[in-house]
Amino acid sequence: MSLNLIERILKLKEEKNALIMAHNYQIPEVQEIADVVGDSYMLAKYAQSTDKDCIIFCGVHFMAESAKILNPSKKVILANPDAGCPMADMVEPAALSEFKKKYPGVPVVAYVNTSAEVKALSDLCCTSSNAVSLIKAMKEDKIIFLPDRNLGRFVAQQIPEKEVILWDGFCITHERVEEEDVIKAIEAHPESKVLMHPECNPAVWKYADYMGSTAQIIDYAAHSEDQSFIIGTEAGILHSLKKVAPEKTFHLLSGCLVCQNMKKTTLADVEKALNGGVPEIVMEEDLRQRAEGALLRMLNPNG
Ligand code: 13P
Ligand code: SF4
Repeated sequence: MSLNLIERILKLKEEKNALIMAHNYQIPEVQEIADVVGDSYMLAKYAQSTDKDCIIFCGVHFMAESAKILNPSKKVILANPDAGCPMADMVEPAALSEFKKKYPGVPVVAYVNTSAEVKALSDLCCTSSNAVSLIKAMKEDKIIFLPDRNLGRFVAQQIPEKEVILWDGFCITHERVEEEDVIKAIEAHPESKVLMHPECNPAVWKYADYMGSTAQIIDYAAHSEDQSFIIGTEAGILHSLKKVAPEKTFHLLSGCLVCQNMKKTTLADVEKALNGGVPEIVMEEDLRQRAEGALLRMLNPNG
């Protein structure tokens, strides 16, 4: 009997003792075959502790790279190696080294959406789920935050006692949302609560009832007494939202909320990766160790 694609993936996964991880923005079919679906923070935590031999990452490059940094003895494969994050590419290590010279002694907090080289030049990593709490707990009253100027402004707004020096990066997907889009969505669905990712432009934050990472948005919608939501983050999240709260209604804030890189990974890519047809993530041990510190300080803030 010939197996279909999903059956072949599941069989290969067992044979290779692999873990399939997917970000909340992946296409529904990929989320469905994944062992773990989550936000950047949860995926990093899971990658660090898995005892599987191999991690097939369905997401973008910096996520698979972080998994390799945190669990170097595992074979880590980005299912579609062309899936990058344009925001992560907005910081060149050389430019960061120059930037740091202007602010001697000021710690660098890097959003996980950065390359290993940039993490190696940073003091602490964060995700959108923990940026505020981690930075609040820092003893310094001035920090450099990169690459996302929007998440950096969000942190500055939440912790007015700290000075946040911003890098001028942004997510090309979330940045597309304009005030007019939000007004239209609220007019069309006035009964809905607006849930928004802090990667959106500050000009639209005033319309948000809640702001958080993708996992926090899912959690909020699942536990809220409200029944209808306008979702201000990438379209892939709708799949998880409908799964956790099938009785509730979700409206994407704008049709422009589609990250082309997150949409690159297909089931065929996952099969190819499991079959050894996609190169694994490789990294110089020296770079890995230099990048690891900032990630470990995020995952074990009290350790
Ligand atoms: P989170 O899932 O951590 O909110 O990540 C958002 C994102 O843009 C990842 O690329
Ligand atoms: Fe990068 Fe934005 Fe796409 Fe996330 S949604 S991978 S931050 S471009």
